[in-house]
Amino acid sequence: MSTTEQSSSAEAGKAGESQAVETSVQQPPEITPSELQTVSEPTYTIAIDEGETFQTDYTSSGSDYDSLYGSDSGSATTSLTESVKNYKYHNGRRYNAYGTQYFIPNDDVQQEQLDLFHHVFLLRLGGKLFLAPIESPQKIMDVGTGTGIWAIQVAEDFPEAAVMGNDVSPIQPNWVPPNVSFEVDDFNEPWLQTPGSYDFIHSRDCHAAVSDWSDFVRNAFHILKPGGWYESQEHTVEITADDGSVPEDNILKDWVRDLSDAFERIGKTCHAHPHIDKWMEEAGFTNIKKQYFKLPIGTWPKDPVEKEIGAFNLVNMLDATEGFTNAVYTRVLGRDNEVVAQTIKDIRKNLKNKSFHMYFRFCVTYGQKPE
Ligand SMILES: C[S@@+](CC[C@H](N)C(=O)[O-])C[C@H]1O[C@@H](n2cnc3c(N)ncnc32)[C@H](O)[C@@H]1O
Repeated sequence: MSTTEQSSSAEAGKAGESQAVETSVQQPPEITPSELQTVSEPTYTIAIDEGETFQTDYTSSGSDYDSLYGSDSGSATTSLTESVKNYKYHNGRRYNAYGTQYFIPNDDVQQEQLDLFHHVFLLRLGGKLFLAPIESPQKIMDVGTGTGIWAIQVAEDFPEAAVMGNDVSPIQPNWVPPNVSFEVDDFNEPWLQTPGSYDFIHSRDCHAAVSDWSDFVRNAFHILKPGGWYESQEHTVEITADDGSVPEDNILKDWVRDLSDAFERIGKTCHAHPHIDKWMEEAGFTNIKKQYFKLPIGTWPKDPVEKEIGAFNLVNMLDATEGFTNAVYTRVLGRDNEVVAQTIKDIRKNLKNKSFHMYFRFCVTYGQKPE
């Protein structure tokens, strides 16, 4: 059983020297009018219980998801009920219908941030959606898919593959390639997918949402085919500056400490990345490889590629601050709304401080289920 942990050269040097991979920029593909004919509205499946699923098509004409067909695998057919869209609101932001389980909003602001973060990750990985050595996958799953942007792009890259993304929030777009479907599902509940059926499972930035990471990784192993791959992509929750330019008592350092503490309080962790390879090995994965990449915040790097990533990442962080902080600070840490509003302003101001040569990291870990 081999476990490889590989840090990019960025670990030892400035972000501008950090490339372990190619850095060509992949822009989100534009959809041409002819391609528009090949996309379709997504199929949603609501996982209810072992062996019982409900499939629906989303229709934009109604206020609900209308039921159009059932599957031939014995699934019942029903409407996607309003309950999954029974969103909660707090301090002007919208949260998933599961309420207290997940403290990051799912509204338009957060969705734009997720798509921007996706762009940052792609820039960092030289345009690659994943690093695992996947060849001709037939079934791909994106766990905690968010806006579905990764699932949609991987479906475009592998038109022969069936791609499924699941999430507690049905926030994926209406028009997607025909080989993509979405499920409304809670990944902290038992996974209902057929054991041994997937070639590739991907999860990105699920860290503060997973209740039991060992279980999560075991579930991925269970539903993979022999020879299939799981890849975890998680950004770190830290503010690091190799030259000490961010003082220890700066509000940004307090911020990441507070977020970590708050998630620990509710039984989640922002720090899955140090252990993910161990959990994968325990689950039975082999050929495990782990890599860290720097994600600069701001335009401080001299290297033009790093500067571009830093610029996008700064906008991403400014967009994310409120959503990452508001509910966590007020509802988990019990802080006063007005104080929190001011704290968010101060965090944003400090993120823009050009003398802070700061970054956090992106951890990519993949492993294979033995043949
Ligand atoms: C930070 S977002 C990442 C989204 C996507 N993977 C990406 O990288 O763009 C985390 C996602 O996990 C979803 N999530 C949180 N708790 C979940 C749960 N228990 N089951 C399924 N999805 C969940 C959230 O709704 C959110 O869309």
